[in-house]
Amino acid sequence: MWLVVASVPLIPAVLMVSACYRLKLSALCHRAVTWALRLVRRRVCVKSNHKFVFSQCTHGNAESVLETFDLYAETHGSVCIGPQIGEALDEVLRRVRPSRVLELGTHCGYSSVRVLRLLPPAGKLITVELDPITADFGEEVILVAGFKHSQFQVLSCSSAEAISSLHPLLKSEDDTESSVGLNLVLMDHDPQHYLPDLWALEREDLLCPSGCSVLLINRSHRAHRETLDHIRMRSDCFCIRNELQFMTELFYQKEGRRAC
Ligand SMILES: C[S@@+](CC[C@H](N)C(=O)[O-])C[C@H]1O[C@@H](n2cnc3c(N)ncnc32)[C@H](O)[C@@H]1O
Repeated sequence: MWLVVASVPLIPAVLMVSACYRLKLSALCHRAVTWALRLVRRRVCVKSNHKFVFSQCTHGNAESVLETFDLYAETHGSVCIGPQIGEALDEVLRRVRPSRVLELGTHCGYSSVRVLRLLPPAGKLITVELDPITADFGEEVILVAGFKHSQFQVLSCSSAEAISSLHPLLKSEDDTESSVGLNLVLMDHDPQHYLPDLWALEREDLLCPSGCSVLLINRSHRAHRETLDHIRMRSDCFCIRNELQFMTELFYQKEGRRAC
């Protein structure tokens, strides 16, 4: 009781402070609520993510699809790369302007949509997802974002299986044998597979010999460090072009002068 009486004189001061800092306080409350919700709903659910995006976004509008993914991730567990890595990916896409992109780890299609919206008109994305149900969700999201099957292909299999069957898929009618290579590879599947898949892509001659950027999303610091240690030993063809906290850009080049 005495505590209540003692705090009465403080009420005007509390009211004054909250009036002055109303906006900051409400932003703080909003952050606290979204943080608490995310903690409660931490389990990643592909079905719920897909359902939310499908029902809330403007169909045919890729930017709206991305914004809806971001909105979902504010209050639910999500493994999509999100806007921060997304912007770094956009920067690479604008610089490289790739015509053939391989993505390993489609999930619900967030990064696929990010890539597709910045590809040149004749560009093509092949995206690989191990889980068949997730692959279907991803494909539906990509279609909802307004892209056509002539611009992308979703392969539902392991990255290793996809790589071994990629050659004929990359060839179009007007391609010469020497122009089949990929210009950009995005790895966001299983960090333990980054290195074996990279060596397989090189072995199968799938990386464009005149230059290919390979983006490795950093999901596990230890695995990432070990992968980069091995890549540093392959300075004949590979170099590390840009190392960010959450993503590393490698550059592969077999022909001509090294670009980094
Ligand atoms: C982190 S999520 C990818 C997120 C996605 N890039 C995005 O931003 O929306 C990883 C995905 O890779 C898939 N995956 C894991 N191992 C794989 C493999 N060996 N081959 C293909 N896909 C794999 C998982 O099923 C999962 O959907």
